[in-house]
Amino acid sequence: MSAESLLLKYSRVFDEHIGEFIPENTVEYSSVINAANHSLSAGGKRIRPALLMEFCRIFSDDFGVSVPAACAIEMIHTYSLIHDDLPCMDNDDFRRGKPSCHIAFGEDIALLAGDGLQSLAFEIMAKMNADSDKIVKSIACLAERCGINGMVGGQVIDLESENKQIPLDTLILLQRLKTGKLIEAAVKIGCILGGASDDEIDLCLKYAENIGLAFQIRDDILDVIGDRELLGKPIGSDKEENKSTFLSFLSIEDAENKICELTKAAKESLAFLGDKANDLCDLADYLAYRNN
Ligand code: IPE
Ligand code: IPE
Ligand code: MG
Ligand code: MG
Ligand code: MG
Repeated sequence: MSAESLLLKYSRVFDEHIGEFIPENTVEYSSVINAANHSLSAGGKRIRPALLMEFCRIFSDDFGVSVPAACAIEMIHTYSLIHDDLPCMDNDDFRRGKPSCHIAFGEDIALLAGDGLQSLAFEIMAKMNADSDKIVKSIACLAERCGINGMVGGQVIDLESENKQIPLDTLILLQRLKTGKLIEAAVKIGCILGGASDDEIDLCLKYAENIGLAFQIRDDILDVIGDRELLGKPIGSDKEENKSTFLSFLSIEDAENKICELTKAAKESLAFLGDKANDLCDLADYLAYRNN
């Protein structure tokens, strides 16, 4: 299956099931539900749900058990984007081809929509129909990686690195935390729910770490040379906010070489899976060269 078909397959699964997990918007506080839905249904690439379900399928031949967790991780990602776009963060008014959540619903409701999506994600995980041991491990994995020592920590370094030069090591840490950690969580939760062993999980995490860093380097490049319509978000945002990105250190060509190197390493770490990992290898290539 091509990477496009793989993403399409799992996007459809996501679209079919996400409604089961969103509260009815017939309550007095429906504005926050409408705001969450605005961002969630806007359509993203759904990379994290696809990774989660595909890793589960690889180890168990069936991704069904992982559908709630896939919806939950996309909620966490969507919350991170809603907050990332706020005026106090990156101040971006366009996301997933639509006005950002705070443009459509106001900063206060956007902030709360992000908060609500975050707790809803953990509620969904806690209620998953899986062995309690797998549920606890999955929740711990997600909490660890989206919190202070994960995505949140990365966002802090990102903000505190505006308008200054930082060492390359700090930039790599920033990228690994703000973007890499949630990609790691998607892969690891898929593995846990699929019944992978600890050794198998470690190898799959190498794949996640490498594609995660490559993903953010490509994001930095697209912010400079991407197409606003294709991306569904503004370009030039990093320059406007004086961000530290990979392009503060490398030319576009060298950054692309780095992406190739990381993608190669990612694919090599899945060699133990043989042909079963073909789609994931194609996905790594697709993400390396994506234009959206
Ligand atoms: C954008 O993530 C933010 C980063 C972590 C780089 P995606 O590029 O996965 O955004 P969507 O989900 O497709 O909108
Ligand atoms: C986003 O990084 C990381 C998170 C939202 C956690 P960016 O700020 O580079 O993402 P975009 O470019 O706005 O999508
Ligand atoms: Mg940001
Ligand atoms: Mg941003
Ligand atoms: Mg960016």
